[in-house]
Amino acid sequence: MPELVDNDNSITTIDKLSEFDDKSVTIRGWVYNKRSSGKIHFILVRDGSGVVQCVIVKNQVSPEVFGSYDLLTQESSIAVTGKVHKDDRAPGGYELQVEDLEIVHVAKEYPITPKEHGVEFLMDHRHLWLRSSRQHAILRVRHQIIKAVREFFDNRGFTLVDSPILTPASVEGTSTLFETDYFDLGKAYLTQSGQLYAEAAAMAFGKVYCFGPTFRAEKSKTRRHLTEFWMVEPEVAWADLNDDMNLAEEFIEHIVQTVLKKSESELHVLERDITKLQPVKRPFPRLHYDEAVEMLKKTGVEFQYGNDLGAADETIISQQYDRPVMVHHYPAACKAFYMKRDPERPDLTLSVDVLASEGYGEIIGGSQREDDYDTLVKRLEEFDLPREPFEWYLDLRKYGTVPHAGFGLGIERTVAWICGLEHVRETIPFPRMIYRNTP
Ligand code: 4AD
Ligand code: MG
Repeated sequence: MPELVDNDNSITTIDKLSEFDDKSVTIRGWVYNKRSSGKIHFILVRDGSGVVQCVIVKNQVSPEVFGSYDLLTQESSIAVTGKVHKDDRAPGGYELQVEDLEIVHVAKEYPITPKEHGVEFLMDHRHLWLRSSRQHAILRVRHQIIKAVREFFDNRGFTLVDSPILTPASVEGTSTLFETDYFDLGKAYLTQSGQLYAEAAAMAFGKVYCFGPTFRAEKSKTRRHLTEFWMVEPEVAWADLNDDMNLAEEFIEHIVQTVLKKSESELHVLERDITKLQPVKRPFPRLHYDEAVEMLKKTGVEFQYGNDLGAADETIISQQYDRPVMVHHYPAACKAFYMKRDPERPDLTLSVDVLASEGYGEIIGGSQREDDYDTLVKRLEEFDLPREPFEWYLDLRKYGTVPHAGFGLGIERTVAWICGLEHVRETIPFPRMIYRNTP
């Protein structure tokens, strides 16, 4: 291995080059592209923090260094030492005038080239595709979104309480359960949502959130369904549906405004029209389910009252506004067993879905929870759910039950919306979908 650790502390990363104007530094990275005019070679190097053009001038370096250019293939790994030079025309505003270059590894012929590739090919090479500038930008935005999520709850007195992944029962209906054998105890299921455990934690801590991977055996192939996705779920004791909606809109505003501030360059790489994100501020419009149905009918959609909103319906509704819209009071028939009913309209639930703007559709599902013991027992029966695995959950209604509410935000749909992507498959490092569990 070549000597990569420099004793005079001049190793740095591309995002820090502005701190070294006119000084000599070493960066370590991968060859993104190269071109030559004969006497001057240009190598575009990326190191994960940025991209910089390295300029090799024939009479300024040793013949070995100058000649090493010919060996470099796309994605070869190198360490380059050179003088930092401010150049407004260069990507990133700086370039490196090369003094020395070490080749760490000459890459084999790289399968992903600047030419067009099909999506399936790129997905098969997801482990390499992550290196491309678009994917890099998307995953950096994802990271920023996750940071904003944690920051939001951590700054507001919420305690993070993790929920288990292997669970004894379903939360969101039995049709999307992943099942596995669990020793002598029978079947276990990959969690569809940490909510039930978050409810238990809310009774212990007041305000909590859980944040982790969740699983749905989604049999449909759509642009917004993964079989494994990340969900953050706050749960708040003493909260009703209105409190829940207030929290949801403040939360989304915080995420979007933080990303606009911190991820400017990534959104630029993605050519995201940020004027579409700037208006995402409180208050969000609130639409009763009945009003949503009216709206659909007015636009000529044939909609059966009582049904859940389909993706196309959500698109129509969300396109009416410049910011997310909160649709509340969905019919009980299309929602989960744990949702509290509207005392005035028992056919409706105290529920809310937040539909992202620009037609992106549902990113949050939430509700006030049924907090009465007898009613919840009845619901389990109505939903044909076995009582035994829910005994502990019923306990929460036996020992100091209080009104409480919460919601779940899907990270991947949020990333797709904020980045302006067609499909959620690019929003997670290694997507899992009905027809894909590799790489
Ligand atoms: O609406 P859902 O099913 O709600 C729940 O799971 C509740 N238990 C949450 C709660 O109240 N604590 O899912 C919540 C969100 C959706 O709005 C969506 O953003 C995301 O999770 N989601 C998915 N994302 C990607 N692929 C899937 N298959 C998803 N299913 C749900
Ligand atoms: Mg939902």
